[in-house]
Amino acid sequence: MKIITTVRELHNGLSEPVLKPLGLVPTMGALHAGHVSLVKQAKKECPRVVVSIFVNPTQFNDKNDLKRYPRTPDTDLALLKKHLAKDDIVFIPEEKEIYPEPDTRIFSFGNLDNVMEALHRPGHFNGVGQVVSRLFRIVNPDKAYFGLKDFQQLAVIRSLVRQLDLKVNIIACPIIREPDGLAMSSRNRLLDDDTRNRAPVIFKTIAEAAVLFREKGVAETKKYVNSCINREKGFEVEYFEIVDDTELVPIVNRQEIKNEREYFACIAVRAGKVRLIDNVKIPLM
Ligand code: PAJ
Repeated sequence: MKIITTVRELHNGLSEPVLKPLGLVPTMGALHAGHVSLVKQAKKECPRVVVSIFVNPTQFNDKNDLKRYPRTPDTDLALLKKHLAKDDIVFIPEEKEIYPEPDTRIFSFGNLDNVMEALHRPGHFNGVGQVVSRLFRIVNPDKAYFGLKDFQQLAVIRSLVRQLDLKVNIIACPIIREPDGLAMSSRNRLLDDDTRNRAPVIFKTIAEAAVLFREKGVAETKKYVNSCINREKGFEVEYFEIVDDTELVPIVNRQEIKNEREYFACIAVRAGKVRLIDNVKIPLM
């Protein structure tokens, strides 16, 4: 694999030979098996894969979060080396390569701006839109791989692709979990031992909720989720919603469920100082 830090070098690297389809896996580093699953999927489908590692400042609404976001470039590269081949590229740009000038664009993602993550992290998805649209323009991939772990982000990126009329094909990849069920995340390494040991309660509870919902409806299910998680010391539910997979409109009443749509139970929890998100698909009614 080639390690490339500038846009100019990247364009040289992509031109000789031209290998299609070109796959892109955007990341912020601190890589784990979740990221690796995206890389593996991309490798299955594309003769050349670009993995980008860039901690994008414009998507952090909280400066402290940006400061303490884990950065592990050496182990990231060692891990990628195991999965990438000679023609693949790891793109690790400095900020000025992505933002030669400040990005002042404001995106509008419709209802996606009014629910869940958007309410708790103002400006976050605008920053994601800025960086992902720039990466798409710089790399010009045929396919780009994103995890269902960041469920709302995936919907935002699909909306971005529609708005900008891009040709890139967005591939959604399943959530990879630790053996105890906790969804893998770069932020998990910020959890202290006690919080980490209790964090599987999040997945366990939403998996139960996805089944309970059928019998009990929305209000009861929400009550159940809040009580199971908030009784853990230091844990607090920020939101728990059952939403469709396109507009992400929260369901208030079971009768709103449409057969042709898929639904997901989505949660954000403050666990100590760390914010964790997860989701599960609601089994068909
Ligand atoms: P990051 O959090 O590094 O995640 C990079 C990609 O890995 C995302 O598509 C995310 O959904 C996926 N991912 C993370 N954990 C996963 C898991 N447990 N299972 C499956 N996929 C997982 O998401 C971002 O970076 C940034 O917002 C980015 C899109 C790179 C823009 O800056």
